[in-house]
Amino acid sequence: MMNTTIEATFKGYDIESIRKDFPILNRKVKGYPLVYFDNAATSQKPQSVIDALVHYYSYNNANVHRGIHSLAEEATADFEATRDAVKSFINAQSREEIIYTRGTTESINLVAYTWAKQNLAEGDEVIISGMEHHSNIVPWQIICEQNKARLKVIPVNINGELLMDEFENLLSDRTKLVAVNHVSNAMGTVNPVKTIIQKAHAKGAVVLIDGAQSAMHLDIDVQDLDCDFFAFSSHKLLGPTGMGILYGKKELLQTMPVFAGGGEMIREVTFEKTTYNDLPYKFEAGTPNIADAIALKPAIDYINKIGKENIRRHEDMLLAHATKKLKEIEGLKVIGDNDHKVSVVSFVIEGVHPQDIGVLLDNRGIAVRTGHHCAEPLMNHFCIPGTIRASFALYNTTEEIDLMMEALNRAVKVLR
Ligand code: ALA
Repeated sequence: MMNTTIEATFKGYDIESIRKDFPILNRKVKGYPLVYFDNAATSQKPQSVIDALVHYYSYNNANVHRGIHSLAEEATADFEATRDAVKSFINAQSREEIIYTRGTTESINLVAYTWAKQNLAEGDEVIISGMEHHSNIVPWQIICEQNKARLKVIPVNINGELLMDEFENLLSDRTKLVAVNHVSNAMGTVNPVKTIIQKAHAKGAVVLIDGAQSAMHLDIDVQDLDCDFFAFSSHKLLGPTGMGILYGKKELLQTMPVFAGGGEMIREVTFEKTTYNDLPYKFEAGTPNIADAIALKPAIDYINKIGKENIRRHEDMLLAHATKKLKEIEGLKVIGDNDHKVSVVSFVIEGVHPQDIGVLLDNRGIAVRTGHHCAEPLMNHFCIPGTIRASFALYNTTEEIDLMMEALNRAVKVLR
């Protein structure tokens, strides 16, 4: 356990005790205490999440919704309790609006292969943004090609913000869908999604928000946002991998065709005809990811216990500290240098390849992500092959940032 700088955080935020809840933070990498700054790729897991997985497999492992025996009933109750926790977490109107998926990518693909496939006609338009992750680009490209629809892109300015005037110019009566990220994974920019949703709705378009990077850091209220779909992953939210959520407005989900066929999503099957189950099960074919769904609840409980506002405040402090220190390095440029950001600082250093920095930081136990961050079009916009990205979470400290700065200064000296 590191000796964290308590005075660098605000009163009441018990960073020491938070860090104790994440066992992985005790380990060493290459002989150094782990400094984990790759939280935008996946967050670490508190003991309560790990315990929930072990408890399920060692105490009440059974399939859900199918058995009348005690184990099946216990597993089903725990599995469905997560749905209620998610409903409250994002303030959905009903639990039927919460669909379990494998992650954000599958949630977006579900909408592409059901709603979009059914509703996009030749000449219709889908608008995405220039800062999307590949998972919010490629599914729309595929469906646009199949349905002969057109894909349009909201441009990004030099500071990594959306050009909202351009967005308004792109909107037309042919716009059927707008799909944008809430927070850019590559830069941390928070997009004005409420305005985007209002303007898209005024044209009659449906809006999907990719919340993969926002669900952990921002308060999510899907009713206040009024988005039609909201997609996010458990593993970036202190929960297990292989589990995700698609929120959809009930009236839309009801009219959508099914996604995958199989057990659980049906009401009645004959060789002539199959009728489908009610929401949300209509979209949940086959044995679901029971253990990971169950273990998402303690992750949400953990976040609720610390409080999103406190987490945001702590992470904002880390972001400000890191950004200030990084800018002191000669030849360093922050990519996406703007005032509407959460928890991510992405940068390039003149004359040094991001990957070399990544390797040298790892030699000091410091985990950052380097590369294009699955956002190649954004990297092309900035004419760079990739960046070095440090992304922070509720358990990180300013002391860890100072360790990164030390290692970074040393690496730059070696590489230049
Ligand atoms: N989308 C994840 C990231 O940004 C994997 O690293």
